[in-house]
Amino acid sequence: MKINEEQRQQLESIYSSFLNDEKILKMKEITMHRGSNCYIHSFKVAKLAIKRALRHNKGDLATILLASILHDYYLYDWRQDRSKMKHHLSEHPFVAAQNAERDFDILEPVKKAIQTHMWPVNFSDFPKTKEARIIVNADKTIYFKEIACSKRHKAKREQKYLKQINKLFD
Ligand SMILES: [Fe+2]
Ligand SMILES: [Fe+2]
Repeated sequence: MKINEEQRQQLESIYSSFLNDEKILKMKEITMHRGSNCYIHSFKVAKLAIKRALRHNKGDLATILLASILHDYYLYDWRQDRSKMKHHLSEHPFVAAQNAERDFDILEPVKKAIQTHMWPVNFSDFPKTKEARIIVNADKTIYFKEIACSKRHKAKREQKYLKQINKLFD
C-alpha cells in the first residue's frame, strides 16, 4: 500500500500523541518480558503492524495503529497482584478494551481488535477482521523476540528499545 506524505505525517502525529500521553506513559511501570515493559511492547507491536499492513496492502491503518497501541492497555501488573495472575492471559484483552474505551475515543473495530488479540489462547475470540489479524501476528512476533533475549543488560536494552520506538516510521 502506498501512502502519501500527508497520510504518513497524520499517522506519525497520532503515534507521537500516544507516545507522550500521560495515561499511556503509565504502561512503562508494567513489566513485560526481558528489558521490555508494556509501553515499549505496545509501540513495538504498533510499528511492526503498520509496516506489515503497508507491505501487504492490508487494512485500515488508523484502526491498526490505535488497536495495537492499546491492545495491552490493561494497566495492572499481574506479577504484583496475585488475584490477577490466574486469569490474566484470557481476561486482559477485555480489561484493555474497557480501559481504552473509557480513556480514549475509539470505534468498534478498534475495540474488537483489542479483544481478540490473544487468539488462539482465547480460542473462541477469533480475530474476524484484517486489522485484528495483523495485530495478533505482530503481537506474537514481538513477544517471541522479547522472550528470546537474555536477562542480562536489561537496563541497556530498555534504552535501546526506547530509541527504536520514538518514531512510527524510521
Ligand atoms: Fe496481550
Ligand atoms: Fe501484547
